[in-house]
Amino acid sequence: MGKKLVFGLVGCGRIANKHAKILSELDGAELRYVCDIKRDRADKFAKEYKAKQFYDYSELLKQKDIDVVDICTPSGLHPEMTVKAARQGFHVVTEKPMALNLEDADWMIEECKKNGVMLFVVKQNRLNPPVQRAREALEQSRFGKLFLLNTTVRWTRPQEYYDMDEWRGTKRFDGGVLLNQASHHVDLILWFGGPVESVLAKVARLDHDIEVEDTAVALLKFKSGALGVIEATTCTYPHNLEGSLTILGKNGSVKIGGFAVNKIETWIFKDIRNEDQYIQESSTFPPDVYGYGHRVYLQNVIDTILGRAQPYTDGYEGRKSLEVIMAIYKSAATGKEVKLPLK
Ligand SMILES: NC(=O)c1ccc[n+]([C@@H]2O[C@H](COP(=O)([O-])OP(=O)(O)OC[C@H]3O[C@@H](n4cnc5c(N)ncnc54)[C@H](O)[C@@H]3O)[C@@H](O)[C@H]2O)c1
Repeated sequence: MGKKLVFGLVGCGRIANKHAKILSELDGAELRYVCDIKRDRADKFAKEYKAKQFYDYSELLKQKDIDVVDICTPSGLHPEMTVKAARQGFHVVTEKPMALNLEDADWMIEECKKNGVMLFVVKQNRLNPPVQRAREALEQSRFGKLFLLNTTVRWTRPQEYYDMDEWRGTKRFDGGVLLNQASHHVDLILWFGGPVESVLAKVARLDHDIEVEDTAVALLKFKSGALGVIEATTCTYPHNLEGSLTILGKNGSVKIGGFAVNKIETWIFKDIRNEDQYIQESSTFPPDVYGYGHRVYLQNVIDTILGRAQPYTDGYEGRKSLEVIMAIYKSAATGKEVKLPLK
């Protein structure tokens, strides 16, 4: 058996269930430590995964045998937790969004670099099989010149969702629909469309008692000349209707829909290939909007640290969608078109 990386997971909440289960199953990982300020959650994870629990992050960081700290806490805590782990010499996996502003993202990237550790930002939707197939088509230039890209997030989050935990819907720890739910979709539209030249946007809080926006629309101009549209809301009645990505090029049109960018809805190319007839086989039917990508993502973290792979989304990749989201907020606040890069 090859080397196992020792993981310490912080934040034993909803998404951590997925991380912990996968880490306990992957050959290259050992989930040895878990930590949560809510003792019952840390205790539950410790019991379930035969890990040692801590209730204070600084105690977790004293464990010298850790290789990787896996951060699954509220988003506003990711920067400081990342930097503290990096300063102890531990690699870091952080859930999305990596941070809620660019200064913090740069701080994380810089500190990880300075301390010689790797930073991974979870963007598991890139790994959805239909998204992977579309990316292959892009890399093989099957779309030709790109004209228009769209990502649509029509999801439902009732007020009870925001009331479930104190951090949700706050400026300091969560951010709105763009930073939380749609950060994956913004990442995807950029992964296909490439660098953005400018953004024009509006955001609104329409149906929730929260500090941040629950609805947003943005127009993108890509450096390539293509145009893009982002539409995101958590106000959809009565349930999640759509989480999609559409790519329209001179020689190809693809829409990946479903509610979690999981299902091929349109797949048409000028150069028809034999494998196209099986494209529906890449559609998946996940039980939740998180999808199945975490397993492949965490496997890549292990492989990258062990020198067998390149990272799927590191700090620099994670920063790209954050920059566009910050540009959207700036445009919405000023009513003006915002040019990128922001600084
Ligand atoms: N990749 C995805 O698809 C995906 C899906 C859901 C959530 N997320 C991200 O994961 C993160 C967590 O979301 P969640 O829904 O699991 O939240 P959650 O509230 O269910 O879990 C967060 C946990 O962190 C703990 N915590 C808070 N402060 C702490 C501290 N100082 N030290 C230790 N533990 C602390 C809380 O007690 C809680 O148990 C967020 O950043 C969110 O955006 C990503």
